[in-house]
Amino acid sequence: MPLHAALCTLSTLLQLFIMCFAMSSWSRHNLSSVPKGLDVRLRYLDLSKNVIRSINSQDLGLPSLKTLDLSYNKLETIYVGAFRDMAQLQELNLARNMLSHNVNKNSQALTSLNRLRRLDISVNGLDDNAAELCLHNKSVLEHLNLTGNILMRLAPKQFMETRNLRHIHIENNLITVIEVGTFEPLKKLETLNLAKNNLIYICDFKLHQVKHLNLSRNSIEFFVTHEDGQPYSLETLDLSYNNMIYFPIVPKTNRLRYLHLQNNKVGAMEVATADDEKLNDAVENNNVYSNWRLMPLIYMDLSSNHFSYFPAEILSQLTSLSTLNFSNNCLTDLSYNTTKYGGGHVGDYHQPSWIFPSLRFLNLKNNGLQQLSRSFLKALPSIETLNLRENSVRPCGPSDELGTSEIWREDVSSSCVSFWNIKSLRHLDLQDNGIKTIFQNTFQKTPLVSLNLASNIDMNFARDALEGLQSSLQSLSISGNNMMTSDLSLPCLEALRQLNMSGNDIDVLPTVIGCSPLAELDVRNNSLTSINVSMLDRLSLHLDMIYVSGNPFKCCDSKWLTALNKASVDIPDLDRAMCTISRSNGMQETDYLRNHSRHCSQKHSPKIPELNLWQIIIFILFMLTVLITVQISIVYLKKVYWLLTVHEFKCRCPLGDCTTYNNRIPSN
Ligand SMILES: *[C@@H]1O[C@H](CO)[C@@H](O)[C@H](O)[C@H]1NC(C)=O
Ligand SMILES: *[C@@H]1O[C@H](CO)[C@@H](O)[C@H](O)[C@H]1NC(C)=O
Ligand SMILES: *[C@@H]1O[C@H](CO)[C@@H](O)[C@H](O)[C@H]1NC(C)=O
Ligand SMILES: *[C@@H]1O[C@H](CO)[C@@H](O)[C@H](O)[C@H]1NC(C)=O
Ligand SMILES: *[C@@H]1O[C@H](CO)[C@@H](O)[C@H](O)[C@H]1NC(C)=O
Ligand SMILES: *[C@@H]1O[C@H](CO)[C@@H](O)[C@H](O)[C@H]1NC(C)=O
Ligand SMILES: *[C@@H]1O[C@H](CO)[C@@H](O)[C@H](O)[C@H]1NC(C)=O
Ligand SMILES: *[C@@H]1O[C@H](CO)[C@@H](O)[C@H](O)[C@H]1NC(C)=O
Ligand SMILES: *[C@@H]1O[C@H](CO)[C@@H](O)[C@H](O)[C@H]1NC(C)=O
Ligand SMILES: *[C@@H]1O[C@H](CO)[C@@H](O)[C@H](O)[C@H]1NC(C)=O
Repeated sequence: MPLHAALCTLSTLLQLFIMCFAMSSWSRHNLSSVPKGLDVRLRYLDLSKNVIRSINSQDLGLPSLKTLDLSYNKLETIYVGAFRDMAQLQELNLARNMLSHNVNKNSQALTSLNRLRRLDISVNGLDDNAAELCLHNKSVLEHLNLTGNILMRLAPKQFMETRNLRHIHIENNLITVIEVGTFEPLKKLETLNLAKNNLIYICDFKLHQVKHLNLSRNSIEFFVTHEDGQPYSLETLDLSYNNMIYFPIVPKTNRLRYLHLQNNKVGAMEVATADDEKLNDAVENNNVYSNWRLMPLIYMDLSSNHFSYFPAEILSQLTSLSTLNFSNNCLTDLSYNTTKYGGGHVGDYHQPSWIFPSLRFLNLKNNGLQQLSRSFLKALPSIETLNLRENSVRPCGPSDELGTSEIWREDVSSSCVSFWNIKSLRHLDLQDNGIKTIFQNTFQKTPLVSLNLASNIDMNFARDALEGLQSSLQSLSISGNNMMTSDLSLPCLEALRQLNMSGNDIDVLPTVIGCSPLAELDVRNNSLTSINVSMLDRLSLHLDMIYVSGNPFKCCDSKWLTALNKASVDIPDLDRAMCTISRSNGMQETDYLRNHSRHCSQKHSPKIPELNLWQIIIFILFMLTVLITVQISIVYLKKVYWLLTVHEFKCRCPLGDCTTYNNRIPSN
């Protein structure tokens, strides 16, 4: 038994060994032909990124080869028979060659590869006919890449011999027509990527089997599904960057989860015909959108379309919708009476009839919004992330009454938005809304985790503006607001991890930020001359990173920098940070903060404080000794003088100015 087990292990090891050595990479070797004498047991051969122009029938006698990569060569000619002995080959990458030069030879050489599962012939200058020829005898092919060729028309004969295809990429060709029956027979087709072609409409989509359909960057104006009662497998539909005017007409029974409609013209038409009752009736009576009720859509991107109203009635049928991107449209007002298919009746100021039960991420960036009514927000019971960047939203204050009122009066005259008591909201972006004041208790009972108030020039915080956020807020940006220290009234934010105060006019950091377990602090482009060291000592328990450049720091008041270095806090922009030195002549000079000590060690840091008590005592004793010595000397010299004058000598006292000696105590 043990012997048998040992033999087994040995043989497994041997097999592994052979497998490892039976792989080979010759990529980027400047090879102009297939190297000679390759191991016949090779299973994997990478010849990509060389300059091979042709392959002869003797070049590749590799019967075990499973994967061959010849991409990024200059391949023009594959001679008939070149692949003859490669019965095992499953993956062949011929991307980015020049197969169109000898299509007949090349396609004939490919015909013998009837076991291929994966074929990449992208970027080879192939037209419809050439592509068809390359696909003969490929009955087990699953993955096909035809991207970047010059196909114009897709017809059934192209895929006659490739009925096993699962994934087809024909991006970036010139396709204008897809004939009926081209893809229908491919029963296993899951992914069909036709992005970047010239398709103008899809008027009878009936590929029940396809899960992922990419039609991005064509010129599609409408998409209509053939309704035959059969279920469709469609999960992802990308119609972005087209000319869609209406929503696509999707199958009644589908599995659609991701719908990409960004960069189209949806919304434009509905406005133009808003008064056209007939059309509206037609749309509604035909129940075009009633199918939506059955759609398990979770993601819809409607950004960069032409909506000037919010299609609440239609979208609210999507009960699973959790992400909606409505950025870059033309909404100005989200009071529910201004939405299309208004829901409530005139005079009905209660909840609208619609609701978005699952919506968690709503992006309304760059819409010109001024109004966002309380009832609209109430119809979003799961909202977590609300992006209102680049609008004109003004948060309500206490005088707006609405702000704290439990009654959602549809006060249309009110021009503010109440962010009070939105229990599910975690992330709010109000950057660049022209907000001037954040009033007291604005976010009370709304447990925000991140709040972006950047680029609201000249904004200020009223007292208790951030009241209620003390234990939830983790990230706050007040960058680019031109705020002064006095505009900043912050509570102790006990959970704050990131604070961005860059681009203001702050000259003293509020000491209250010492309360927060900040990991990242950005104080770039302010008016700071120094930073309070005792506050930093508290901060540096948690601080990982601080940005400081663009402040007029004093070079010789830089204990804060020492403290940061000591705490190993990363200062990514230290090399850009400057500091100033005031010269005795009143001139200001600047230097790199990193080199601050150059200016301060001698001239600016006085030495006296370094003297200790003993030095002072010794100094005084020394001076006393000198004084006494001088006194004695004077007495003695007087005597000598007297003696000399008596003896009629004329001599001047050499130590006449000795008393000024005392003044040579080091100054400054
Ligand atoms: C590649 O090979 C050609 C000759 O086959 C030679 O002229 C060229 O300099 C080589 N290039 C590099 C980068 O080695
Ligand atoms: C398909 O490939 C097989 C195996 O290489 C070969 O025997 C057969 O002749 C090919 N069929 C055609 C029509 O070329
Ligand atoms: C298809 O080919 C293009 C161009 O060579 C390449 O960029 C892309 O990654 C390929 N796609 C797949 C799915 O292999
Ligand atoms: C569709 O194709 C485009 C163009 O290649 C690509 O950018 C996009 O991500 C694809 N869409 C999906 C949903 O994968
Ligand atoms: C739209 O918003 C979603 C969620 O915020 C985001 O994932 C997506 O990238 C956005 N799309 C565009 C085109 O900006
Ligand atoms: C919504 O109500 C306001 C105030 O009553 C009114 O001025 C406006 O015209 C209404 N909008 C619509 C679309 O009914
Ligand atoms: C702070 O905000 C500014 C402006 O929005 C931005 O450029 C900067 O990267 C932010 N800082 C950090 C650390 O993210
Ligand atoms: C700081 O100001 C400089 C110069 O005006 C600017 O280039 C930089 O983007 C600003 N950085 C931040 C984070 O505000
Ligand atoms: C520095 O901060 C501490 C609290 O951390 C405060 O007590 C002290 O007054 C501050 N010093 C200055 C000069 O602001
Ligand atoms: C700092 O000073 C040193 C020598 O005085 C100099 O080599 C270095 O370039 C200076 N650093 C900066 C950022 O100016």
